[in-house]
Amino acid sequence: MRFLIIDDSPYDRELIIRKLQDEFRDTTFIEVSRQADFEEAMAQGDFDVVLVDYGLKWTTGLDILKKLRTRFPDLPVVMVTDTGNEEIAAEGMKAGLSDYALKKHLQRLPFAVKESLEKARLRKERKGLEEQVQQKQKMESLGLLVGGIAHDFNNLLTGITGYAQLGLSLVNQGDPLYEYLNHIRETAKRATIMTRQLLAFSRQQTLEPSDVNLNVVIAHVLDFLSKILPEYIDLDFAPDPALKSVTADTIQIEQVVMNLCINARDAMPNGGKILIKTQNVLLDERGAGAYAGVQPGLYVLLTIADTGMGMDEQVRERMFEPFFTTKEPGTGTGLGLSMVHGIIAQHNGFLAVDSEMGKGTTFNIYFPAVDGVAVQTETEEVHAVEGGTETILVVEDDPDVRTLMEAVLREYGYTVIMANDGEEGLRLFEQRAASIALVIADLMMPKMKGRELYEHIRQLRPTVRFLFVSGYQATQFGQDFVLEKGVEFLEKPFDLDKLAETIRKVLV
Ligand SMILES: Nc1ncnc2c1ncn2[C@@H]1O[C@H](COP(=O)(O)OP(=O)(O)O)[C@@H](O)[C@H]1O
Ligand SMILES: [Mg+2]
Repeated sequence: MRFLIIDDSPYDRELIIRKLQDEFRDTTFIEVSRQADFEEAMAQGDFDVVLVDYGLKWTTGLDILKKLRTRFPDLPVVMVTDTGNEEIAAEGMKAGLSDYALKKHLQRLPFAVKESLEKARLRKERKGLEEQVQQKQKMESLGLLVGGIAHDFNNLLTGITGYAQLGLSLVNQGDPLYEYLNHIRETAKRATIMTRQLLAFSRQQTLEPSDVNLNVVIAHVLDFLSKILPEYIDLDFAPDPALKSVTADTIQIEQVVMNLCINARDAMPNGGKILIKTQNVLLDERGAGAYAGVQPGLYVLLTIADTGMGMDEQVRERMFEPFFTTKEPGTGTGLGLSMVHGIIAQHNGFLAVDSEMGKGTTFNIYFPAVDGVAVQTETEEVHAVEGGTETILVVEDDPDVRTLMEAVLREYGYTVIMANDGEEGLRLFEQRAASIALVIADLMMPKMKGRELYEHIRQLRPTVRFLFVSGYQATQFGQDFVLEKGVEFLEKPFDLDKLAETIRKVLV
């Protein structure tokens, strides 16, 4: 965590730093007491929180706040001052101040900072969701428009191709007319391919879905890709050997992978690396909440990442639009990503793109997993995750996560007892204490929190093993208990293999 502290008094800065040091890990403090230093810090912009005094020799805290806000609208800014004054506080809040702490009550400061950080995080999340909803609406209306045109065009093209064909059958190959008609047919064929891509974008393709293992589909494309990619591009595939199946049209998925890899190639004219990766991921309420309109559940995540030139904000905003391209005419059609977008939507999946200029681009594509483990094929290395037969008590308040955990643990051979909350968990443990080898509990639950449950159960039977799962990082609950023997922690959303592995680890 990087703090920017703006205060004339070295003594006050020291006090502030001391207060914060104990409460936050890995802290860096950038101290500013002069205007020039402030300008420089602003230019660098390399901090997570700002603490600013009100009365500075060269300006006021309010002015600093206003300057910061124009460049960093979401940055947490806390005013730390000894001139406590309601008016200043009110004006500050109006100008976007996150919080206000008095120097004589500095013990409140860490709390104020934590709250401001959390508020900023939520605001950013909400903004992201709003943008996603807008993007979705844009795609939907474009899809309707494009789909309508493509549909009519397809009919016209059927006519054009058909009559060209008929004409061709009536003239001899030596006839100049033969040449002309052949041109018409070939051009119409190209137009048909384009129309098909547009139909894919508007989700009007007929899918031929079956339950498939994406690893197998990708391995197939890879054969082909390795032939067409130049040798200055490294292609790496990291398949999850225990990947769940998805319901998909193999040909369409091949298209997606091809398009993304070809774009990656185009983004790396000077060479680089493409990484294709598959894994199972469990999205709980919180995990799914980060994406607009996405339900919690088990997904197969396909990642295609490159180390290429990346995209700037303008390109990122428009990349899925049909005919949007930054490539030279003749090299790009601007239909690749439109297709990718449509195909994924038609598979009830969704995607998230991470791209940074000069660093590279990562496409994360989520497909809903079919229940059951995908069929393995002989070409893959099988490294099955170990299961067991012990009895596990699962205490989890989220019904979706609960159902999934139960199904998965049963699949791995365990006997599973389910509880909705800490109180029920404790009651069930009391009834069946002798048989329960492991308790898996969410840390944040209504009624009785995970840690409280843990204290109770450890009193009843100190040898029972514990696995905590949580959307929060373990460090936020204090490291002490996570490091105890027989206790493990898993951060949500977790990979199902990781869950199985961690269970074995804690049970041995
Ligand atoms: N991996 C990538 N790295 C950088 N830019 C990309 C990448 N993938 C797509 N783009 C950008 O998105 C645009 C649209 O891509 P696409 O729809 O496939 O059309 P095309 O490849 O024909 O230009 C590209 O022109 C490019 O600017
Ligand atoms: Mg392309």
